[in-house]
Amino acid sequence: MITVQSAIKPLISEEQIAARVAELGKQIRQDYGDKNILLVGVLKGAAVFLSDLLRAIDGEVDYDFVAISSYGNGTKSSGVVRILKDLDESPIGRHVLIVEDIVDSGLTLQFLLENMRMHRTASVKVCALLDKVARRVVDVPIDYTGFEVPDVFVVGYGMDYAGLYRNLPYIGVLGE
Ligand code: IMP
Ligand code: MG
Repeated sequence: MITVQSAIKPLISEEQIAARVAELGKQIRQDYGDKNILLVGVLKGAAVFLSDLLRAIDGEVDYDFVAISSYGNGTKSSGVVRILKDLDESPIGRHVLIVEDIVDSGLTLQFLLENMRMHRTASVKVCALLDKVARRVVDVPIDYTGFEVPDVFVVGYGMDYAGLYRNLPYIGVLGE
């Protein structure tokens, strides 16, 4: 198992991530003024990003999580999307900012946005750490993007392959 991580090619360093997350946090607070923001993270991949982003946003901010199924243990979308865990608290009247690790086909995000529109939220925006724009199948709005990435399977900083590599502090590309 020790040799496993040698198959990971570094793509975005810990320092690059930290710098970008700090910028995103500042930008978000600037755009929202003094509004109370509800970050809604998509489990499990976005948990690491959300925890850093949360601390990069000043003022009133809370967070919640949803869990959605869209991937099995492979690297291709199954196309199956369903809610495994809903919000703990009602998003009615809240300024919801959906926090995703990576947008690939866009199917997960489209489903979440449709679901969120059924609630009377004050607003809904999206913040994605990574945008794999070449793979987009459905057009989804992303208000805040950390980095655009090529059509490769990335791991680390919360993102996994078959439950592995979430603990890498950087983002890398999974080799063969
Ligand atoms: P989508 O529904 O195809 O946009 O897939 C979005 C979800 O698939 C993301 O939130 C990730 O959890 C997962 N995903 C997509 N691409 C990757 C990748 O390169 N590495 C790890 N997870 C990925
Ligand atoms: Mg995800």
